[in-house]
Amino acid sequence: MTIPKIVILTGAGISAESGLSTFRAQNGLWEGYDVNDVATYEGYIRNPTVVHDFYNMLRRKLQNPSVKPNAAHFALAELEQKLGTDNVLIVTQNVDNLHEQAGSKNIIHMHGELLKVRNEKTGQIIDCFNDVNYQQNKLIRPHIVWFGEIPLQMEQIYDALSQADYFISIGTSGNVYPAAGFVQIANQAGAKSIELNLEPSLGESLFQTKIYGPASKVVPKFIATLI
Ligand code: OAD
Repeated sequence: MTIPKIVILTGAGISAESGLSTFRAQNGLWEGYDVNDVATYEGYIRNPTVVHDFYNMLRRKLQNPSVKPNAAHFALAELEQKLGTDNVLIVTQNVDNLHEQAGSKNIIHMHGELLKVRNEKTGQIIDCFNDVNYQQNKLIRPHIVWFGEIPLQMEQIYDALSQADYFISIGTSGNVYPAAGFVQIANQAGAKSIELNLEPSLGESLFQTKIYGPASKVVPKFIATLI
């Protein structure tokens, strides 16, 4: 039997039960902040300290010992272990490192990573576990893709989507492109498309199979059918 090629798109919903806020829920991250201030390059130029404070706060939250991968992250890591890194790719919109902590290896962080910063001049990407002080280093920006910027590794993602047998979308509201359009590309490539989310996403009608419930429950159950 040939091993299926599986592309998994994850969003903030997969990390909600690990204690990290989603963006668009009531009390979600974007409720207390103006996206234009903290998630655009223009906002950064206007007030870099406010932007660094925001990502410093998120970086600290992520490293709180209570924040750990949940059963959904572990199920995806097990899938990769069973089917091989060549056959399972996680494309995550999340800037946390919970997929890595769970043991997944083949991961694309299309929106960047909270535990990295980037030198604006050289493009060098550097690990970062502490607060960034703009006054001390004006060249370092968060390694985060802001609105209006191009997500990372898009060529690799489209290549994987074009070969996928399964496309599984987990914990994303379908508000943000290009990720929200991946299901159409996978469908065109003949993949089986599956949505696992707490509630129907904006792109719900594009998926062939939909299962709704908390990620820690629905993801392990569905992944078990593929192993
Ligand atoms: P959203 O906050 O837009 O959506 C999170 C989704 O997860 C919603 O559809 C929720 O119903 C669902 N959800 C919540 N709790 C869940 C649980 N326990 N189990 C399963 N699903 C659950 O987050 P994203 O779709 O990830 O970009 O947002 C996409 C992008 O918008 C983010 O990467 C971020 C943001 O602006 C950047 O910062 C660049």
